[in-house]
Amino acid sequence: MAAETAYHGEMGRQFALQATHSAYNAYTDRPAMLELAGDVSGLRVLDLGCGAGHYAADLLRKGAGEVVGVEGSETLLRAARERLGDRADLHQHDLEQPLSFLADQSFDLVVLALVYHHIDARAQLLAEVRRVLRPGGTLLVSTTHPTGDWTYFGGSYFAGERVELPFGDGYALSYWRMTLEQFLGELLGAGFVLEELREPRATPEARQVDVRRHDKTHQQPHFLAVSLRRP
Ligand SMILES: C[S@@+](CC[C@H](N)C(=O)[O-])C[C@H]1O[C@@H](n2cnc3c(N)ncnc32)[C@H](O)[C@@H]1O
Repeated sequence: MAAETAYHGEMGRQFALQATHSAYNAYTDRPAMLELAGDVSGLRVLDLGCGAGHYAADLLRKGAGEVVGVEGSETLLRAARERLGDRADLHQHDLEQPLSFLADQSFDLVVLALVYHHIDARAQLLAEVRRVLRPGGTLLVSTTHPTGDWTYFGGSYFAGERVELPFGDGYALSYWRMTLEQFLGELLGAGFVLEELREPRATPEARQVDVRRHDKTHQQPHFLAVSLRRP
């Protein structure tokens, strides 16, 4: 049976709170991914695993024409609604299931920010992303860095297993630890073309909230972010 990976209840509330100003989300992952996104003016964007809507808000601020957010956690969807009002079209949906409610080739940009590694049915998800992206459209994916995971969890770098990372006050994030070969192999195998790869380091603002984490990201890779094109 698929592991329950959406951040429900109190865990979702804790994620929503910390994602606004955390060294890792606000000042490491998001700035790198938004830089990779480049000019989003007028684009129709799909934000999969949109969490509390932080990406959607930033993309709209950068001029995105329309943002559709998909999220499995009701708690986080509520937080996204509070943040975005009617500026985004939000759906509760389990990403282990097909995106049947979205039309073929209807998006210019798809964002999978720190959600891909939670999913079991990744081949199905990528096939669905390919279906809903227009030819020439962009897919952005960020994930935990393979060597960061290896440093933290130890064992074999090649283990390719589900791991549990302590999160917040007594919670754990369940996700797939992957090698670089597996992560990129899955994306390229699904027919996407790699355009750019980043190993994001925290921006200077992170020093104000957590100097230890800021410095850590400059010594040890924490996330990986890639931009891919749908041919
Ligand atoms: C690390 S958070 C990232 C949220 C958002 N993309 C951001 O960067 O702020 C992972 C998100 O994926 C969602 N998620 C995990 N598994 C999911 C699933 N099977 N279906 C839908 N959403 C899921 C979680 O609820 C959570 O909002």
